[in-house]
Amino acid sequence: MLNAIGSKVDLSDKDLVYNHLVADLLENETVLKMKEFPHHGDTTCFQHCLNVSYYNYKLCRFFSLNERAGARAGLLHDLFLYDWHTYKPAKGERLHGFTHAGAALKNVRENFYVSDLEADIIEKHMFPLNITALPKYRETLVIVLVDKYCGLLETVIPRFQKVGRGIKKLGAKARKAPQE
Ligand SMILES: [Fe+2]
Ligand SMILES: [Fe+2]
Repeated sequence: MLNAIGSKVDLSDKDLVYNHLVADLLENETVLKMKEFPHHGDTTCFQHCLNVSYYNYKLCRFFSLNERAGARAGLLHDLFLYDWHTYKPAKGERLHGFTHAGAALKNVRENFYVSDLEADIIEKHMFPLNITALPKYRETLVIVLVDKYCGLLETVIPRFQKVGRGIKKLGAKARKAPQE
């Protein structure tokens, strides 16, 4: 079972249009390597990219944009392949937030064919942090929003779940306590 955050749709279902668009990437070793790296909270880089890919696809489809490019570039947009929490930039190198989109695009070009549109989506997904990397396509504006939205969900939802589990535990303890 493969889900995007907040969705119950099984994205490994071969009958889904979404699955048809990204099936080769979902089985690709380089893409799967992202499972080894944490991203936001408990979310791996792979899960984050899957989240962004699916909601990119949905929004692009809703606005009659290129849903294939949205889905594929979404799944590849953070393919930088290192743990950014412990990554130390080389002397003179800028921080991860500024450089990882370029690093991801380099890795993507080494492993896959990407269209100009897909390259733009990957390279400029951090706009406006990279203020000079101006989005050229509407699909790129979609990922700029979706990436931030997913990042927020990935950070906030697990915290709410933790609080929920804590409240449940307290409730169970209170029920077990001897009644006076
Ligand atoms: Fe990113
Ligand atoms: Fe991202």
